[in-house]
Amino acid sequence: MFAFIYFATVIRQQTIDQIFSAANIEEVVGDYVKLKRSGSGLGGLCPFHNEKTPSFKVSPHLGIYKCFGCGKGGNVVDFVMDVEKMTYPEALRHLANRYHIEIEEDNSNQEELSEQVKLRDSLFVAMEYAGTYFHDVLLNHEEGRSIGHSYFVHRGINPSTMEEFRLGYALNSWDAFSGTAVKMGYDVNILARAGLIKFRNEENHNDGHYDVYRERVIFPIRNLSGKIIGLGGRHLKKDAKSPKYINSPENEIYHKSAVLYGLYESRKEIRTRDKALLVEGYLDVIMLYQSGLKNVVATSGTALTTDQVKLVKRFTDNVTLLYDGDKAGIRAAMRGVDLLLEGGLNVRVVVFPDGEDPDSWCRKVGGEEMEKFISANEKDFVLFKTEMLLAERGEDPVAKSETARDVVASIAKITDPIKRSAYIRETSNLLQFDEELLLAEAKRQRNEIQKQRGRREREESEQISFIQPGLPIEPPREEDLQFRERALINTLIRFGDQPYSEDVDVAGYIFSELDHDEYVFENADLGEAFLDAKKFYGVHGNLTEEFYTRHKILGKMAANILSLKYELSPNWGAVHEIFVKTDNDNYQNEVIANLNYLKLYKIDSVLKRTMKDMEAATEDDEVVALQMRIFKIREIKRTITDILGIEGAMPE
Ligand code: CTP
Ligand code: MN
Repeated sequence: MFAFIYFATVIRQQTIDQIFSAANIEEVVGDYVKLKRSGSGLGGLCPFHNEKTPSFKVSPHLGIYKCFGCGKGGNVVDFVMDVEKMTYPEALRHLANRYHIEIEEDNSNQEELSEQVKLRDSLFVAMEYAGTYFHDVLLNHEEGRSIGHSYFVHRGINPSTMEEFRLGYALNSWDAFSGTAVKMGYDVNILARAGLIKFRNEENHNDGHYDVYRERVIFPIRNLSGKIIGLGGRHLKKDAKSPKYINSPENEIYHKSAVLYGLYESRKEIRTRDKALLVEGYLDVIMLYQSGLKNVVATSGTALTTDQVKLVKRFTDNVTLLYDGDKAGIRAAMRGVDLLLEGGLNVRVVVFPDGEDPDSWCRKVGGEEMEKFISANEKDFVLFKTEMLLAERGEDPVAKSETARDVVASIAKITDPIKRSAYIRETSNLLQFDEELLLAEAKRQRNEIQKQRGRREREESEQISFIQPGLPIEPPREEDLQFRERALINTLIRFGDQPYSEDVDVAGYIFSELDHDEYVFENADLGEAFLDAKKFYGVHGNLTEEFYTRHKILGKMAANILSLKYELSPNWGAVHEIFVKTDNDNYQNEVIANLNYLKLYKIDSVLKRTMKDMEAATEDDEVVALQMRIFKIREIKRTITDILGIEGAMPE
């Protein structure tokens, strides 16, 4: 369908340039990392590995990021690729979408995209269509207005909120949606994969299909870039046969356990307030948001997952759980809390009066009172749990020791030892229980956790060493070449603008020495990059940092090099000295060495080939010609090994 054709094309260079100019790395990274001023740039906790002290740096000036802990680095597109697990074109589209840049396609150069990427893109397109369709029905269709729209109004939701959350309505019909969608050219298989339609007969798709969402109000679920990835549909009549909510199935774009409803809308406010309110339902999010408590997200009725905890932690360390008043609800919701503690979050709890949920209470008292209610009733989770269990189980010694063990189980999950001991003290007061005993129990449980974690990490590291076998003793020639090619490009980035001799800079010298017509790169990507650089140099007379950082292939390498050069490193002092002393004084030598190593390896392979040709030669004059050639090649080779001072070191 049209979606496939659309996504199989290539983005024009002009558009890519526009995207780079518009995309603000501070903003883009800021969606995932809490950034603070640090030295000449910004710093924060690396989103790519677990760390407690920040070693992740962003340089808005260069448009690059770099983690000095795990080594990841690159430009703004690399970041999106890394963090969202996207391909290069996907990341560009993502940024274009965010910065409202219209993508111009280059149809002359069709790119092969994997089936997986095509499928994901088609699902996004289908979900976007469905969201727009149901929203339009809510606003403009007679049934949509009289039933769906009235329902939301009855629940106290304003038209502007319906707009902001793109709420919708699905008609009471078996084919209203699918009929329109198919007419628009959407593929039924994609619609089915998206959970929007079902086939009457799974075995035979020709037997027709029907709409999954019927006579329901629709809540689109968005990912962090605002794309619709799923739908929740609430029924309006109590009907024993159908569930209260129908939610999208797991597929290539929707992973329920990694989504928090409302996060796209609330993430800014969560960061500014440095606190997230965690509720259960779609309507809780919408009502609180509308009432001015915009830092609210929902787990959508399921127990919290580790992925969701990580998601919240990108924006804040402080979470307040808003529980319904009923006991069963509290009990269920408490299950996910240890994960929050383990994730290093500060957890507080507010319980609403019996029979009220955050939505109903907020509607009853209004936003301002709701805020006051929360700050007045917010309780630290550990103390809340202690008090609740005490009240429930009573104070007799057996019950109390059981409660102590349960509470300590939560405390043991907390990673910060200072926090842990503060909690132990407080609970020992509350429980009137010996602090030493609680400490001992906490230590025991902590050991247990660490043992388990150790086992897991060991297993992981065994997997890694299995994947990465040690270097082969005799590396294949192409790998040597690729290593040298990489080293040369590295030299180019670092010293390209330095003088090589009186009348040429390093870049100019390298380009003149390494004529691409003769020297074809082993590594095709580097070869392409080398040609791009040469072309840019030809036009502008020099190579800019921007050229490197924005380059599809060179971006990451440039980020690594420039982040060192511009003191993004926390241990700059040490790194700086080595960098300057060993490199800056010797860059001419480095240029010579790299160029000549490349030539050497290349000439070596030419020599081998020629010798083989000679062995296979049958005609006498052919043999003589080849012998002459071999002699010349050996001569050149000797010159090179002389320059490199490695005479005789290269076996033939
Ligand atoms: N939920 C679900 N499937 C169900 C019931 C609930 O996915 N059958 C999820 C929904 O995300 C829902 C949340 O759990 O928003 C909370 O459920 P509930 O409190 O029953 O629904 P509310 O959204 O609060 O709806 P209402 O206030 O209209 O009852
Ligand atoms: Mn509710």
